[in-house]
This record gives sequence, structure tokens and C-alpha cells, in this order.
Amino acid sequence: MRKKAIALGFILIFSIFLLGACSQGKSELAGNAVKIFKGPGCGCCDIFVDYMGKKGFDVEASSPSDIAAIKQEHGVPDSMESCHTTIIGDYFVEGHVPVEAVEKLMLEKPDIKGIAMPGMPSGSPGMPGPKYGPFIVYAVNKDGSTSEFMRI
Ligand code: CU
Ligand code: CU
Repeated sequence: MRKKAIALGFILIFSIFLLGACSQGKSELAGNAVKIFKGPGCGCCDIFVDYMGKKGFDVEASSPSDIAAIKQEHGVPDSMESCHTTIIGDYFVEGHVPVEAVEKLMLEKPDIKGIAMPGMPSGSPGMPGPKYGPFIVYAVNKDGSTSEFMRI
């Protein structure tokens, strides 16, 4: 009887440990659907798709023939452009944006078009190399103007 109880206790502790290990690294937004439009022949876009998948997002990725049209349609300014465009809810997330900024966006739900990290900064999710400084993510306001959204 006592042995059974001890065995049961071990199983319980082990299960809790497993559960903890599995959920590690997942975003609090896990399960949310995102659409990722990749640039043509873009390797870093694929790595970013993997990154979002590992964070637990329900990712639908595609390589449209005219990515510029997609960016234009969602209101991504030329100055804010990167390789791929992610759509989550009513927002766009342009570029190799760390998931922390996406979490802030979805938590605060500001009245903006989306967020963007222009270019392809070294060391950002999906990009090789060291991180040279804080990543600056910009908010793209409804009138097309931009302001700093988050530093990571
Ligand atoms: Cu890229
Ligand atoms: Cu990309």
C-alpha cells in the first residue's frame, strides 16, 4: 500500500516535470493563428516561420508572387519593409520581430496598423550573427506615421 503511494507520487511528480518541460519556450499567445507571407527564395523567412511555430503559433505560411502588393495592401510603409510580413488578428508584424513585441501588441491592442522592424537585423529571430544592440520595433500608426513601440 505504501509502495503504491510512493510510486504514484513519483508518477505525479514526473508528469508535472514533463508538462513543464513541454510548455517551455512557448508564447502566451500559443494557439493563435498567424499568416506569414514569405519573400521569394528567402531562407531567413523559413527560419522565422520555424521560430513562430516553436513559440506555439498556428502558422500558415505562403510565398506570394507579389509580396510588395501584400505589404501595400496592409499598409506597411516602404521605410519599414523587411523580407516577410506576418498577419495576426487585424495587425501586420513586419520582419524578424521578436515574439515579446507580438505579445505586447496583442495584450495592449493599440489603435495602430501594425508593428515593424525594418531590414534584417543580425541576431534577430531567423537571422544569423550576433546582436549588436537593442532591437527597435516601430508602431505604424493609422495615419502611416511611425513611432517607437518597443526596445528588446
Ligand atoms: Cu529576413
Ligand atoms: Cu523573412
